[in-house]
Amino acid sequence: MLYRLLSPLAVILLVNGQTDEWWPTATLYQVYPRSLKDTNGDGVGDIKGITESIPHLIDAGIDCVWLSPIYKSPMKDFGYDISDFLSIDPIFGTWDDFLELARVIKEAGLRLVMDIVPNHTSDKHDWFLKSINREDPYTDYYIWRDSLGIDQNGTQIPPNNWISAFAGSTWEWNEQRQQFYLHQFTVAQPDLDYRNPLVIEEMKNVLRFWLENGMDGFRVDAPGHIVEHIDFLDEPPTNDPNCPPMQFCQLQHIYTMNQPETLDVLREFRKVIEEYEVASGEKKVIMSEPTNNIVDTMSFYGTPDDPLMDFPFNVNFVFDINNQTNASTLKYAIDNWIDNMPAHATANWVMGNHDQPRNRERQGEEFAMALSMVNLLLPGISITYYGEEINMDNTFVSWADTQDPQGCNAGPEYYQRFSRDPERTPFQWNNQTFAGFTTGNSTWLPVNENYLYTNLEDQKLPNRIRSPFKIFQALTAARKTEAIITGSFEHRVLTENVFAFVREAPAATLNYLVVVNTGYAEDQANANEQFPQLPTVGTVYTSTISSNQEIGDVINLNAINLPPRGGIVITFTL
Ligand code: NOJ
Repeated sequence: MLYRLLSPLAVILLVNGQTDEWWPTATLYQVYPRSLKDTNGDGVGDIKGITESIPHLIDAGIDCVWLSPIYKSPMKDFGYDISDFLSIDPIFGTWDDFLELARVIKEAGLRLVMDIVPNHTSDKHDWFLKSINREDPYTDYYIWRDSLGIDQNGTQIPPNNWISAFAGSTWEWNEQRQQFYLHQFTVAQPDLDYRNPLVIEEMKNVLRFWLENGMDGFRVDAPGHIVEHIDFLDEPPTNDPNCPPMQFCQLQHIYTMNQPETLDVLREFRKVIEEYEVASGEKKVIMSEPTNNIVDTMSFYGTPDDPLMDFPFNVNFVFDINNQTNASTLKYAIDNWIDNMPAHATANWVMGNHDQPRNRERQGEEFAMALSMVNLLLPGISITYYGEEINMDNTFVSWADTQDPQGCNAGPEYYQRFSRDPERTPFQWNNQTFAGFTTGNSTWLPVNENYLYTNLEDQKLPNRIRSPFKIFQALTAARKTEAIITGSFEHRVLTENVFAFVREAPAATLNYLVVVNTGYAEDQANANEQFPQLPTVGTVYTSTISSNQEIGDVINLNAINLPPRGGIVITFTL
């Protein structure tokens, strides 16, 4: 089964022990730079703070650090609005700070991947300023369209009904150029025109620049939005009664998303990676955000003859597990990716990111940990959003403190539904002021009040045997063992609420059985019935906090006890 989940090349190389594709079983960690650690007391995380955090990431068992944008930016979308793709924003530090971070990461044997944001720039980017002035070659770098006339209020009429992902018209009138420009996100993020070959070349040069500066790969932001339909027709309404006015959910995005030409752009990006690999002999990864449906998301993998992304992030897993109510629906969340994935592809598992409410908010404290067991022991790449290793929760952020443009644009009535601030609050290092995140007097977003007991220092104490962090460490350690790296994968529904899977390999000293209870009552399950190859007993490797099965307990596999919403990992030998 594993061989279905890793690319054929990766499998051959893995079996021979010579793979230079380092990511098929990697543990990736997403750093949201504003929120990991602040070293200069301004209340915003910085690069030096990330460098100081590397010992923690090593301790946590991470292989690869993915940085959300640290490029120069007016911060209208907190770094996803880039005014210079080739420099570091002063709020995060200096170029030397970046080089030092890259050096420390490399010396630790970790990898470093950065976000690349091709769909748009900041409206303060030099290209846009020159495009407004119709200065060649920048005149057609962005999507400019004429007005349809002037309405009775004297306002310019936009070219069509398109709505931005952050609410409101996707068109903004520019007085100077006397045209509208397209922005699929905030008004300060004009969309680049990827039908212009010069734009593709510019972005390829950005990739080249960062590869030259030691990057191990990229995460491509918002690929589904890169190209728009050339006819600029109105999009049909969704007629969704729950969608507030002028929100993205009002329209079916058949002309603004997932156009066939998107794959041509991704192919161009891939070419740069391949050129660089040939020239340097080093293997680089290129992964992407998914898009809004599974079929188009899967197309980002490409085919064996025409590979595009090494993998699109499986954020679907987040949505699918949100809907899980029993063991079958949890199994479906896994199958939905595996069954739709192309045969040559590698799977990956995401529990959360800077755009989604935290796992613990969605699933509750106990089940968030149980799902970490699933995420980290499934075959393929595992992706951890900063704070998940200590089971951080969403934080309440008042309307007055709201920063995220998606929240601000929704207004006081709806901001809580749309704001992404609650999942972006400072990392909780200890129980000191501001959870040890900053030495300053404030933080850019509030620290969660639960920091007194949900913090790293506390979770590392010797008496916290099964703290979320210790569970996480146990899971990342298991990821480095044979059964998880090359082992087979079998998953089953044991009872209505109990889901389980087995990872085993012939050469492994330890194999794993993972059992989770999706239900809200205690449960007992018989694993021997569904997995006849299992021995009669196994040893508890780790279990969620309210389980009464302690690490090292030898238990019968035909009667595994689970607390409500809890999980357990059991090792066994064949
Ligand atoms: C997707 C990113 O994940 C999100 O945070 C950002 O706001 C949009 N792209 C726009 O760049």
